[in-house]
Order: sequence, then C-alpha cells, then structure tokens
Amino acid sequence: MSKAAVVVGVQWGDEGKGKVVDALAEHFDIVARYQGGANAGHTVIADGRKHVLQLLPAGVVRPDRIAVIGNGVVIDPEALAREIHCLEESEIKIGSRLRISDRAHLILPWHRSHEIAAEAARGDAQIGTTSKGIGPTYEDKAGRRGLRTCDLRDEASFRAKCSEMGKEKNRLAAALFDSVHDDGAWVDRYLAAAEGIVPRLTDVSAFLNSALDGGHRVLFEGAQGTMLDIDHGTYPFVTSSSAAAGGASIGTGVGPTRLGKVIGVSKAYATRVGSGPFPTEAAGEDADKIRERGGEYGAVTGRPRRCGWFDVPAARYAARLNYLSHLVITKLDILDHLAEIPVGVQYELDGNRLDSFPPDVDAVERLKMRYISLPGWQQPTFGLQNYDELPQRAREYLQFISREVGVPIAMVSTGPERHQTIWMDTSSVPKD
Ligand code: GDP
Ligand code: IMO
Ligand code: MG
Repeated sequence: MSKAAVVVGVQWGDEGKGKVVDALAEHFDIVARYQGGANAGHTVIADGRKHVLQLLPAGVVRPDRIAVIGNGVVIDPEALAREIHCLEESEIKIGSRLRISDRAHLILPWHRSHEIAAEAARGDAQIGTTSKGIGPTYEDKAGRRGLRTCDLRDEASFRAKCSEMGKEKNRLAAALFDSVHDDGAWVDRYLAAAEGIVPRLTDVSAFLNSALDGGHRVLFEGAQGTMLDIDHGTYPFVTSSSAAAGGASIGTGVGPTRLGKVIGVSKAYATRVGSGPFPTEAAGEDADKIRERGGEYGAVTGRPRRCGWFDVPAARYAARLNYLSHLVITKLDILDHLAEIPVGVQYELDGNRLDSFPPDVDAVERLKMRYISLPGWQQPTFGLQNYDELPQRAREYLQFISREVGVPIAMVSTGPERHQTIWMDTSSVPKD
C-alpha cells in the first residue's frame, strides 16, 4: 500500500489546495511541490494567522513536517528567500525542514521582462499571466538552455553562464521587444539569495524514494489546476507546466505506481483568473455576489476572479485525466445564500451533445451548456465539521456532484481554517 497521495486542482486553480493540503498534512510526514512557481498562491490559515505560500509547500506551516520543492518547480531565488524570511518572521521555523531539488530550473530576470513584453505584444489575445516569468523559464528548460539550482553551487561558473546567456537574451530583447536590456546587476543579488538555497539542495528523487521505502508518508502538492495544465488545459490559456497529477511523478522523480491516492480539489462552484474560455461563467449580480462572499480576488495578483457554476463535464474530464480516487469540495459555505444553484451538466457543440472536452479553445468558446438548478439550503454551513450537521439540501448538492463526476468525496471544506473541515472518507489518507 502506497503511503503517498497527490493533491491536484480540478478546475482553473485557486480551488483551496493550500487549505486542503494543510488539513491533510496532519496525516503526512513530507509535503512536496512538483510544478509551477511563484505564480501559485496557496492560502493557509493556522492559529489565526494567514500565510500565502507561493513556492514553499503548504505543509511547511505545520511545525514538524518536511517540505520539499521538486525538480519540476521553477524557482526565483529572491522570491524564495523572501518567502522563507517572511515565514520565519511569523515564527514558523524552517531550518533544515526544507529540501530543494538540485535540478529545479531558475527564473532569471529576463524571463520576467520577456514575459511582460510578450504579453503586451499579444494585445487582445493576452493570456493574463502572473508576470512571474513562468512561461519563459519553462521555454528555456525545454530549449535545453536553462540554468538550474545546481548551477548556484559554483559562483564563478554561475557568473560566466549568466553573462553568456545575458548576451543572447539582450540580442533577443532588442530584436523582439525593442527596449528590454539587462546589465546583469542582479547576479550578486541572486548569489546572496543562493546562500539560503545551496545548503538545502538535495537529490529529491533519492530523498523521497528512500523516505517512502522507510514507511514515511508523502503528500504531493499540485499548483494551478487541471484546466491550466500545459497539455490538457484550455491551451493556449494555460500555465506552462504539468499541473495534472502525472506532473507529480515527472516533477519529483517518484515513479507513477508510487503516487498512491489522487485527491482532486474543486470549489463547490467555479472561478478562473486570467483570460480564456470558462463554460459556466456567470454574469452580473450572480457573479458579483459569489466574488464578494468568496473573497474571489487573486492571492498573488489581487485580480478579481471570474466566477461561475460547477461544471460537471469539466470535472469529469479532470477525474479521468488524473484518475481521481477522491474529491474534496471547498467553499460550500459561499453558496449558503442561494435559493437555487445552477450546475452545468451537459455540453453541446454546434447542436450536438458532446461527451468529451474539445482540444481547441474556439470550440470551447462555442460550447452551449445545459444547466439544471438544484435547490439551495439557505442556512449557514460556515465552519461546520460534521456531515450530519449539514442541511439536507447541502448534502444532496454534494451527493449530486459526487454521483455526476463519479468520484467519492473525501472531505468538504466549510471555511478557510484548518478545523472548518468535514471528513467524509478517510481512505484518502494513509493509516497513521
Ligand atoms: P489555492 O491556490 O488552491 O490554494 O487557493 P487560494 O488560496 O488561492 O484561494 C482559496 C481562497 O479560499 C483562500 O482565500 C482560502 O483561505 C479560502 N478558502 C479555502 N477553503 C475555504 C472554504 O471552505 N470556505 C471559505 N469561506 N474560504 C475558503
Ligand atoms: P494556484 O496554485 C489560478 C493562471 C494565470 C493565467 C495563466 C498563465 O494558486 O491555484 P502563468 O503566470 O502561470 O504563466 O499564467 O494561469 N494561473 C493561475 N490561476 N491559480 C493559480 O495558481 C495560477 N497560476 C497561474 O492567471 O491565466
Ligand atoms: Mg491560489
């Protein structure tokens, strides 16, 4: 029996993965991030304090858990140093609890500036990225010219590599974007930040595999969500990494058969931040009310999130891609006010019923959704911890989602704090 599990976003990110990982981490020894970078914003509220984690796995908030940043993550050393500093300021000691892959790619300043210039050049077709340099860093990784964390070990060679790469990036910037010129002044700052990184560099695959051999429990924490996955999401309105559960294997060097359970996190409704198709997007007052009640503003960028209804066909698509063993439904409490709750149950494309998710965004934009309306419960569920305390209609809503998606619900979240959680199926976590 594998003592591992993967937490993956079912939708377009911000499903509440931070809260859920923090709650699940009670049953795990190690929490490992496997992809993405500081584009993620995972909110954890513990002991009344709010932490927004961007690169560090959410498990780090618990005092004695080991936190791992896998090779699939792209790291801005300054951002990581700031995040570690910020947590230590709030009395969360990180010390030797953090291991960082010696093979993770580095975000360099030109990745950020080129991304901003490239987004501006796209005009109306902007992806609406987080401007953290994520896409260009993965481009250089796939182009086999990236710099990695292990390159920080040798200062002279790092300087030489940056200088060489800088020349090429400046030629590129002059040709494509006109104005961006990099003078390399940041290299000293990166090397200063590296002082907190180099001593923590580890062969993460070796570390995690031997931890699993030794009976330790490992939770893999995905960032973004399935619908933002580079391969399976609403391309090109996606992020540049493998956010789906398979990314956990690639992004940490742990073989697929060791990953154990796959827990998909979804809001009881849906949101999306940035551009791209969103089949169940709501408009007007309905959307505004959910945005205000749910505090649906980006944890990283502060951008208002687009809001809409639960999308059954998209969730089924995510269930298949990730082979979800369990679902976690978050933010049930945000729907407490509604008399009726629309749920998108069937796509139609050009007049025909569609039972899959189209590959091209033009087709996704043309989808017509058939909705059904479930009766709301119009009673507070905020903070409830027992399934039996939920209003009957809230239970029916959850049962409907589970049945339609075809995946049992492991947990329901009724508030942002750790204890505001209803456990429904503890087979999602290893036995203690
Ligand atoms: P993540 O990126 O998937 O970790 O999600 P974010 O942290 O970006 O966004 C989720 C937001 O919802 C955060 O502000 C959480 O504190 C909050 N949240 C998570 N679960 C619940 C819940 O069940 N109820 C309420 N009211 N808020 C929640
Ligand atoms: P967490 O882990 C929601 C979105 C951006 C943009 C697209 C590409 O907190 O759920 P990128 O900067 O990655 O190149 O942007 O992906 N995006 C997210 N949306 N939650 C996230 O992370 C996201 N990370 C990226 O808004 O549309
Ligand atoms: Mg987030």
